[in-house]
Order: sequence, then structure tokens, then C-alpha cells
Amino acid sequence: MGTTLPAFTPLEDSLHLTLCCRALDNRSADPLLGDALADEVVRELDVDVARLHADANLVTSCALRAKRMDEVAADFVARHPDAVGLDLGAGLDTRSARIGVPPTVDWYDVDLPAVVTARERVLPRYADPHPVAADVRDRDWLDALPTGRPAVVVADGLVGFLSREEVSDLLGRLVGHFPSGEVVFNSYSRFAIWATRHVPGTKAVSGLLRFPGVDDPHELENWDPRLHLVREILLNREPEVARFPPLLRLYSRVSSVSTAWSRKGTIVLHYRF
Ligand SMILES: C[S@@+](CC[C@H](N)C(=O)[O-])C[C@H]1O[C@@H](n2cnc3c(N)ncnc32)[C@H](O)[C@@H]1O
Repeated sequence: MGTTLPAFTPLEDSLHLTLCCRALDNRSADPLLGDALADEVVRELDVDVARLHADANLVTSCALRAKRMDEVAADFVARHPDAVGLDLGAGLDTRSARIGVPPTVDWYDVDLPAVVTARERVLPRYADPHPVAADVRDRDWLDALPTGRPAVVVADGLVGFLSREEVSDLLGRLVGHFPSGEVVFNSYSRFAIWATRHVPGTKAVSGLLRFPGVDDPHELENWDPRLHLVREILLNREPEVARFPPLLRLYSRVSSVSTAWSRKGTIVLHYRF
């Protein structure tokens, strides 16, 4: 029989959308990410996938952005066997299992307390390496994490729920805590934030969005001079576009000729410090 979780707040509940997108990607004929565990969890929780209105665009972008973030994290831990890894706003994602984090790396999955409790119930076989029940905006949770080791920080689907000041403050605290590292997260242009209010799949969470969007990734280097942009990943310019469903592939190809237009779509930002 399936597992039933206690009711989440709308903010916590947002984890279902990204989880279902990864599950739906896994069920497709040609998965981009192939997250079988997400699919298993969705079946176990008997999530009403239809209520989430996850269309091909959303499924594809969630899966591909997760894949790009996985690659950054996997590459980092391969180069730094003494690293610390953080997944901020981890939801019910099992990124460290997906990328096969080496045992010498300490991986921390951070989310609000109700979600961390749910992770323990839903993902018993996953054995969360280091669950952290915290609001990332709080100042003290980072104190419990090691210092003096390089860190890779992933935030998949989190930044939209924080204000510009909260994102800037969080980045500043992360960069101040670790001697060096990399940060990767999905970001939004001002247009993309506006557009979430009009797309069925994201309408439900749009009222929770507090991030105003950034149109130029170099803006964050001005927030904190220790941050240096490694790469702005515009998903409509990635090679996987060739595997997108036909209409989305056509739109991606056409929009990819313009950087401003590309930035209206899904963006993954990768920085080092
Ligand atoms: C859209 S979900 C993404 C979950 C997961 N990263 C994934 O890709 O499936 C956003 C997650 O961020 C968490 N979250 C939102 N605000 C947070 C905060 N201030 N501190 C910690 N977690 C937060 C929510 O509880 C939720 O699990």
C-alpha cells in the first residue's frame, strides 16, 4: 500500500511538482534525466499527477535543469573527494544517489522540518546522508556544517521562493562559510517570473514566488564580488533540444538565436567562489 504524508503548506507542497516532472520524464520514451527513484516515490505516494498540470515544457525543463545541476555537482565531487555537498530545498529529491556521491564526501539535504520528516518516511532505503531541517533563511543552520572543505551547493527550484535580499544574503553566508566552491541553481528572468502566473503548471506556485528575477547573470557578481560566473546555461541552447517534443524543439531552436529571448526560458546559473 502507498504512504500518506501529513498535509504540507503550499510552499512545501511545491516539491510535488518537480518530483512529478522527474517521474513523468522517466516514463517518457526517451528520458532526459531518467530518475527511476522519483517515479517510484510518486507511485508510492499515489500523487495525483493530473492536478499538477505538468505539460511537456515543464517536464522537459525540470528534467534537463536537474541533469545540468547533477553534472556540476558530480564533476565537483569527482575533483574534490574531500568536498561537502549541499542540496538546498531538496524536497523529495535524491540527488546524491543519482550522481553517486563518493563516500568521502559529506552530502547535506536541507529543507523545512516537515519535508525532512517526510523524507525519512518516504525514502527509507535512500538513507539521507545528512538531513538538515532548517529554513535556509535562518542564520544558524550553516554553523553545524564543516568549514575548511570545498563545497558544492545545489538549489533546484528554491530561489524563486526567496526575495532578492534573501538569495543575496544566503549566497553571502555560503561563500563566507566555505573556503572555496561552486554554486548552481535554476534562476528566472523578470519575464519568466511574470510568465509563471499564466502557465497552468506553475500557476499554483506563482503566488508563492518572491524572487523578482534577474536578467543578467553577472548581476550576482555585484551582489558578492567573491562570486564568479562559470556558465549561464540556457536550456534552449543545450544539445538535448534535439530530443524535445516537436513543438517545443521548434520554439527552442527559434528562440535560441537571441540571448534575451533565451533568457525568458529556463536558466541554470553556475558560479564559483
Ligand atoms: C519546487 S520544490 C523543489 C524540491 C527539490 N529541489 C526538487 O527538485 O524536487 C522547493 C522546495 O524548497 C523548499 N523550501 C522553500 N523555501 C524554503 C526555505 N526557506 N528553506 C528551506 N527549504 C525551503 C520547499 O519545502 C520545497 O521542498
